[in-house]
Amino acid sequence: MSIRRLPSELVNRIAAGEVVERPASAVKELVENALDAGAMSVSVRLSAGGLDLIEVTDDGCGMSPADMHLALERHATSKLPDDRIEAVSSFGFRGEALPSIASVARLTLESRVSGGDGWRLTVDHGEAAGEGPASLPPGSRLRVEGLFDKVPARRKFLRSPRSEYAACLDAVRRLAMARSDVGFRLEHDGRMVLAVQPQDTPARVAALLDRELERHGLGIDCVRDGLRLAGVASLPTFNRGMADHQYLFVNNRPVKDRLLVGSLRAAYRDLLARDRHPVAALFIEVPGDEVDINVHPAKTEVRFRDPAAVRGLIVGGLRAALDEAGHRSAAREQFAQAAAWQVEAVERIEPAAALSSLFDAPAPGGAAVMDRPATFAAPMGRAQQAEPVAPGTRYPLGVARGQVAATYIVAEAEDGLVIVDQHAAHERLVLERMRRAGGEGKVAPQALLMPEVVELDEPDCDRLETAIAELAGLGLEIERFGSAAMLVRATPAPLGSTDCKALLSDLAGELAELGTALSLRDRLDHVAATIACHGSVRAGRILSVVEMNALLREMEVTPHSGQCNHGRPTWVKLAHADIEKLFGRR
Ligand SMILES: Nc1ncnc2c1ncn2[C@@H]1O[C@H](COP(=O)(O)OP(=O)(O)OP(=O)(O)O)[C@@H](O)[C@H]1O
Ligand SMILES: [Mg+2]
Repeated sequence: MSIRRLPSELVNRIAAGEVVERPASAVKELVENALDAGAMSVSVRLSAGGLDLIEVTDDGCGMSPADMHLALERHATSKLPDDRIEAVSSFGFRGEALPSIASVARLTLESRVSGGDGWRLTVDHGEAAGEGPASLPPGSRLRVEGLFDKVPARRKFLRSPRSEYAACLDAVRRLAMARSDVGFRLEHDGRMVLAVQPQDTPARVAALLDRELERHGLGIDCVRDGLRLAGVASLPTFNRGMADHQYLFVNNRPVKDRLLVGSLRAAYRDLLARDRHPVAALFIEVPGDEVDINVHPAKTEVRFRDPAAVRGLIVGGLRAALDEAGHRSAAREQFAQAAAWQVEAVERIEPAAALSSLFDAPAPGGAAVMDRPATFAAPMGRAQQAEPVAPGTRYPLGVARGQVAATYIVAEAEDGLVIVDQHAAHERLVLERMRRAGGEGKVAPQALLMPEVVELDEPDCDRLETAIAELAGLGLEIERFGSAAMLVRATPAPLGSTDCKALLSDLAGELAELGTALSLRDRLDHVAATIACHGSVRAGRILSVVEMNALLREMEVTPHSGQCNHGRPTWVKLAHADIEKLFGRR
């Protein structure tokens, strides 16, 4: 077979396969062009999810008639004046979006530079289909009709207009977040679905995602090793069942990158259940030579020179912000009905010296206080005389008044009634204890009477073996025992009695997943979380008033105590005014 050069039309069609996958990709390319042209306002009009019509109008610099012809040629771009891709700050640089779109649809360009006359140019599936004067204000209007009408292979893979519309909306949202200084409008089948004026980024993100984010989000802004992370991330308790509200940007370019998504997930790891996802818009800034943006025709993926540093930035930056948020909890809407349940940051107070003995290592031969099972039948609700509170002492979570269903602590705070889920709260406290003590490598071990042999497969044993020293610092003392088993000599004291087999196999899985990309410190953090999940006060244990108060005081000074390790709130508060409302006194 002889080799031949392909005609340019076919080349464009082939490129279109990568660049224009569905209507949303055409929307993305056209809006990016409008932004690159310096537009301050961009309007998008769609019919049938973009399948029938996509029209993007901007007030940017416009093009002369000669440039309009050039714009439709492959590899013709105004955006690479000095051949340095790594220095590019525009969205586009490949010079192939317009010719690609023009090869799989009917494309009409209308454009006018300020001071010039307007011109119109139509190309139908790669063939010139007329041109002439047009009247429009300075700027450009690009219209794409009948996308993929003559490309049945591609048309077959399209989904319903509804889901194509959803993808278009997502594409516009991403770009509208990247450029909060520009106004955007999106109209679908005659209905205005999005309209935003220039504003600051947090306000833009909240306007596009969820207004509640302004209340339940954390502002992030940190710099590490010359890399910067900024944006908004939700409190763990403000989570979703899908990871669809996660918007990531590298040097202001919207990207869908596995490393970044994985890092976001890792930062919330012990704060959320596996099937819950945070809401976030994160902007990562890295020097141009640290990232390659030219690895994907649609430019939605990037490659970092030092992925571990980027991961460290995201995990570290988010953790610091989450730590600072302390024990704020965003009780979910069902709690917040009728605005009854108050959710707010309670002021931190200094830990009292003689806090609790709840977590201390058990005395030899005796069980730890919290591990004593409830063996006697107690009344379901108990109220006790509160201890006198020293004047001037402020307890944000209140003074314990009793326990309900052997599961909830009821406390009276100065401004309302507090209900604490003792199991969820304790699980959190165990983790934070482990984390603190683990950082210094001194979680107390509790020796087993008889060392236990745990059988695991060989790679799991290898992984655990490399972490023996780390784990010892967390109170877990293990040794290699032949090729496919480990010997457990001691378990972390704060856990109480533990299922060693389950613990070790979870840890091995955790270590496999973390790989070596994380620093020792970050790894310890994850491992501590895995360990903490294995031991905690169950619901159903009767607590004395002293124990309840100790738990409350500990929560007040413990970071993240507002949510359990799975993102559920650990406490809720009913303010006095809300109690009055419930009884119709207000
Ligand atoms: N809305 C617009 N306003 C002004 N000029 C535009 C507009 N759209 C396109 N252009 C011009 O047409 C050229 C070609 O656009 P096209 O999208 O095909 O390539 P690109 O943006 O340079 O690179 P990429 O293929 O990476 O998007 C651009 O470089 C720009 O000069
Ligand atoms: Mg472009």
